[in-house]
Amino acid sequence: EADPIKDRYEDSFDIGAAVEPYQLEGEQGEILKRHYSSIVAENVMKPISIQPEEGKFNFEEADKIVQFAKDNDMELRFHTLVWHSQVPDWFFIDKKGNSMVDETDPKQQEKNKQLLLKRLEKHIKTIVKRYKDDVDSWDVVNEVVDDNGNLRESPWYKITGTDYIKTAFETVRKYADEDAKLFINDYNTEVDPKRTALYELVKDLLEDGVPIDGVGHQSHIQLGWPSTDAMEETYQMFAELGLENQITELDVSIYGWPPSGEFNTYEEITDDVLQQQADRYNDLFKLYERNQDIISNVTFWGIADDHTWLDDRASQYSNDGIGKDAPFVFDPDYNVKPAYWEIMD
Ligand code: XIL
Repeated sequence: EADPIKDRYEDSFDIGAAVEPYQLEGEQGEILKRHYSSIVAENVMKPISIQPEEGKFNFEEADKIVQFAKDNDMELRFHTLVWHSQVPDWFFIDKKGNSMVDETDPKQQEKNKQLLLKRLEKHIKTIVKRYKDDVDSWDVVNEVVDDNGNLRESPWYKITGTDYIKTAFETVRKYADEDAKLFINDYNTEVDPKRTALYELVKDLLEDGVPIDGVGHQSHIQLGWPSTDAMEETYQMFAELGLENQITELDVSIYGWPPSGEFNTYEEITDDVLQQQADRYNDLFKLYERNQDIISNVTFWGIADDHTWLDDRASQYSNDGIGKDAPFVFDPDYNVKPAYWEIMD
């Protein structure tokens, strides 16, 4: 049996995986227990899953992941309290049934803002009180900066400005365990102009007293992009602000962007591509290891190549509507790939 990845990095950082509850059982559950020291929900802790209707909280699926983390003594990341995606519409509809985003009357806009911040506080308070003893790192807000380096024009922003960010962090800090770490999470954090914008935002928030502990770098990356130099510089920039870094959603696509989806099945993927991926993983984990003082967790956005959200993208963009990606270090049958051997070296 393959040596556990978590043991290899025990002195450096936690090794995590994103999961759906069905993956906690069977062969995947065994891989999780053997190789990973941290866990996060791929979908079931998002607002649409936890509070699909106002006041109707659904913790059933989320609880399974929390219980698994407890039973197996794993770190738990909570993903995510606030996002513009996978959030139910009711948050942004006023008591008369109108969209708050479309409101033009300044007085009503102010009322809407207060109502939305109240709803946000209630959402967060209910979740944090339930899981405060279990969660080690909270993704408080996700993807609040856009690719052009502006604050994302989400309903949250349109209705409250940046107040939703402040309220979110302050509410989590008020109810969470004092050792729990609060994260701002995003993708393409290594790429300008987004990187600079995120840096400036975090700096301003910290100066304003907003309790942020770290930056989560999603790290949905490719074989040659972004460069490891850009990544290293990024982690160091945020560390200089006194923040922790976590790699929160790592996957190394075998395609560029947009994905060509040229491989229809895992079997069609060439050894050459898998070796390029292995080399990339080697560079990455060396980089993480030499920055272990400022990186506390490296989480993959899945376990093995049988289940990855990147398949949807690979097929969506390919000419024939079929496409297979293979971003992890385990193949679809849960056997180790060349990338595994490189990160264990
Ligand atoms: C993705 C999940 O993997 C998919 O199953 C779901 O359909 C959409 O969301 N950034 C994030 C994650 O922060 O929550 C996203 O997860 C991937 C991109």
